[in-house]
Amino acid sequence: MTLKLIVRRSTEIADGIRELALARSDGGPLPAHPPGSHVVVECGARRNAYSLTSSGIEPYEYTVAVLRLRGGNGGSEQMHRFRTGDRVGVSSPRSDFPPVSTARRHLLIAGGIGITPMLSHARDAVRWGRDVRLLYGHRAGQGAYVEELTRLLGGRMQRAAGSGEFAGLLHEALHSQPIGTHLYMCGPESLMDRVTEEATTAGWPPQRLHLERFTPAELDPGQPFTARLRRSGRNITVPAGTSLLDALERAGVPVASMCRQGVCGECRVPVLAGRPLHRDEFLSEDERAAGDSVMCCVSRSETENLEVDL
Ligand code: FES
Repeated sequence: MTLKLIVRRSTEIADGIRELALARSDGGPLPAHPPGSHVVVECGARRNAYSLTSSGIEPYEYTVAVLRLRGGNGGSEQMHRFRTGDRVGVSSPRSDFPPVSTARRHLLIAGGIGITPMLSHARDAVRWGRDVRLLYGHRAGQGAYVEELTRLLGGRMQRAAGSGEFAGLLHEALHSQPIGTHLYMCGPESLMDRVTEEATTAGWPPQRLHLERFTPAELDPGQPFTARLRRSGRNITVPAGTSLLDALERAGVPVASMCRQGVCGECRVPVLAGRPLHRDEFLSEDERAAGDSVMCCVSRSETENLEVDL
């Protein structure tokens, strides 16, 4: 569902980072959501996913913080141009990065603008008295929400302004948590890869590692395959470098989509035969393993043919 909202505030909160508060024009309530949720915002011709930093309990506005990415797809530039009163299309919140209720402790690791989902996690953890720690790496003078996080977490937050300092704190954090801690990370790809690798080496089980990507992973063109459409009996060739979604649309087969980046969950298509090559950020590990659906905007096929329920 797309919500038609207005920009209630647009504020520069750090160098190159703008916070937008979005609300209904009649001031009415918005759909609730758990911490770590994101929305997909229509930014001109683009749709980009942004983490919600605001509380999801009976919300009357959604806030997102956007880093201006020069040379990006233009979405962040448009977000920075929005001003109070502008109208914006926003999806209902999606949640694939919530806190795990059984976790003994929540270790949050953020790099740069990856602090946004962690802010909602930290606020929620403090509100409900959950054990939480935060390691926040950012460039000197470019931390966002530092004052509020300091107020919320005090000594439970550590900040690192350089990669050397971050490496030391990360090592210590990964080796000093009680058993049953869950680790949540968000930031640049390089940071996520590094944290994942070091955590794995340190013996963290994969089910205790939770990742939130705020930019789509760089995708390789992949191998060509054939999409077999069970209902219509059609075969559609999906060449390397073309997404399954694009191939379906070009063949006149409509599929709902929003972000086209593998994060919103809108383009999910049931798989009846063949093995999907999952490249999205939406499906859980269990859903991936089940192999019975595919996010067709980014994912492909491991097998020569992929039969889908279309
Ligand atoms: S369109 Fe959003 S996951 Fe595919």
